[in-house]
Formats: sequence, C-alpha cells, structure tokens
Amino acid sequence: MVSYKELGLVNSKELFKKAVDGGYAIPAFNFNNMEQLQAIVSACVETKSPVILQVSSGARKYANQTLLRYMAQGAVQYAKELGYEIPIVLHLDHGDSFELCNDCIESGFSSVMIDGSHLPYEENIALTRKVVEYAHQHDVTVEGELGVLAGIEDDVQAEHHTYTEPDEVVDFVNRTGVDSLAISIGTSHGAFKFTPEQCTRNEDGVLVPPPLRFDILEEIEKRIPGFPIVLHGSSSVPSQYVEIINKYGGKLNDSIGIPEEQLRRAAKSAVCKINIDSDGRLAMTAAVREVFATKPAEFDPRKYLGPAREELKKLYMHKTENVLGSAGRA
Ligand code: G3H
Ligand code: 13P
Ligand code: ZN
Repeated sequence: MVSYKELGLVNSKELFKKAVDGGYAIPAFNFNNMEQLQAIVSACVETKSPVILQVSSGARKYANQTLLRYMAQGAVQYAKELGYEIPIVLHLDHGDSFELCNDCIESGFSSVMIDGSHLPYEENIALTRKVVEYAHQHDVTVEGELGVLAGIEDDVQAEHHTYTEPDEVVDFVNRTGVDSLAISIGTSHGAFKFTPEQCTRNEDGVLVPPPLRFDILEEIEKRIPGFPIVLHGSSSVPSQYVEIINKYGGKLNDSIGIPEEQLRRAAKSAVCKINIDSDGRLAMTAAVREVFATKPAEFDPRKYLGPAREELKKLYMHKTENVLGSAGRA
C-alpha cells in the first residue's frame, strides 16, 4: 500500500471547500503522457492554481498505471523546482468498479470517481457506498455521479442526456457519503457535443449551442447547499484549433463545445471541479499537424511534441485565469 500522503499529494476536500466558498472551480485535466503533465504542472504553477491530475482507466492501460503514479509523484517535485508549491490531487476519472478504485487507492491516488451513473439508482448507491467506505479509511475523497451525459463515456455511449434529478441528490449524497457529485446538465464528452442544427447563430455569425440547464443546477444547489458539484464534459472546443487541424489535413467537422462564459458562470456556483480533456487533445493535435505540414523534414519528436506542449500550457493557463477562476488560489 502506497499512501498519496507519502507522495506529496493532497485529497480534494479542502480544495473543494475553498473553491465553493471562493466562487471558482479547480481544473481537472486528464493526462496520459509526459508532455501533457509538464504542460499542466507548469501552467498551474505559473498561474498559482491548484490542480487535479486526472487519469482515466484508458490512460492507465495506455501509459501503465505504475508509470503514471510515479509521474504524479514527479509532478509534485517538478512544481517545487519551478518555484511554487501548488496542491496536486491525483484522481481516477470514471472508475467503473470497486476493484479499480481500490487498486488506485492502494497505489497512491488521493481521489477516485466511482461512476455508477449508468446503473439503476439503488445499484449506483450500493456501489458508490462500498467505494466510499474503503476510500474514507484511507482519507481518499470520492466523486459519485447522478444523471447520464450524452455522448461517449469510456465504452458507454448515450444518445441523449438524462439530466440529474434534483429530488434524488439529498438521498444519494446522504446514503453514499460521497465528497462530491458529478451532475448532468447538458455537457457531454468529446469534441462533438452539439450538431450545428442544435445551435443558433449569434450576431457575429458564430454557432451558439443551447445553454446548460442552470435551472437544474440551481435546484440541486437548493437541495444540498454548498455541496461540491462536478461538471464533466466541459471542453469548449476552441474553433482556432479545429481550424488549424482542418487546414493541415485533419477532418473534424461540426465540432462544437461548451461556451466558456457558461463555464465561468458555473464555476461561480457550487461547481468546484471542471473536467477538461478534449481541448487538450485538440491543442496538441493542432500543433503537431502544423509542424508536420509546415516543416516536413522534421523527424525529432521534440520538434513537434515541444510546440504541442507549449500550446497546451497556453491553453491551461487560459483556463485557470479566464474560465475557472482558479488562478492565484493555490
Ligand atoms: O471522460 C473521459 C475522458 O475524456 C477520458 O477519456 O477514456 O479516452 O482516456 P479516455
Ligand atoms: P471533455 O471531453 O469535454 O474534455 O470532458 C472530459 C471529461 O469529462 C473527463 O472526465
Ligand atoms: Zn468525464
């Protein structure tokens, strides 16, 4: 058993309390390789933002779970070397079983998500409760989920949103003992959140998707005041990256995300953790494609992964400073 405390990591409890009180959200950025991790840590150190390093089960398979854990431990030291100690959480994203959550808890994760959102309500409660009981013995925080996001969630694809039912949240939170709750209010995973047909054009001709269901969020906040809420599927799919990708041979049609103003609004409420993965994938891909297209003689990976890392860092700094409001809170 390796405790996250020995690795210099923290759980999310204190961070969430401060974020809810302070009206901002902690960034939860997914990573599965070194350049992503370097970009996340250097951006968060430079903007003095706390950060949640998020690892999906797919990332564990891709990068090797042991390597990822040592990388997170390295991230703590790297932040110190960069000159400012920021709180770093290592979090399992979309854990789908008790065994996986346990494995992570025992190998140094400070926080886990058990995603029983696709299960019948009582089964979701039973599974989540089981994970919480074990996690809390080790001072590890647990995120549960109620409601189903449309789109792709690991191997599960849902056609439509099943919005979180505000009347269920008190019962769910009390009976499971979770530390935070992921909800469904109109976000979805991936780079294709809305079709152009679902959007309207604003006065500048930009396609604007239907707004998030802030009415549901408000109802939830009334039922569980001050309780930490999590938003998954919160990439904004910046059009500049989609344009660069398509300009240099990519084919990403109709990629529309969550407008940043809506995330800013959510971050001011009890939403205290905002998950962003796809935007990082787009930033990296745009930078790599540009190098491949404009400098075809380059074949040193540092010459294309370096610019990708720079672009990622810019993106993450922008998120902490201008979207989530977590800059300066570490
Ligand atoms: O919510 C899913 C995250 O974006 C992780 O994606 O399962 O492809 O690693 P992944
Ligand atoms: P995006 O696909 O919108 O980046 O969402 C990521 C996420 O929710 C990870 O759990
Ligand atoms: Zn997610």
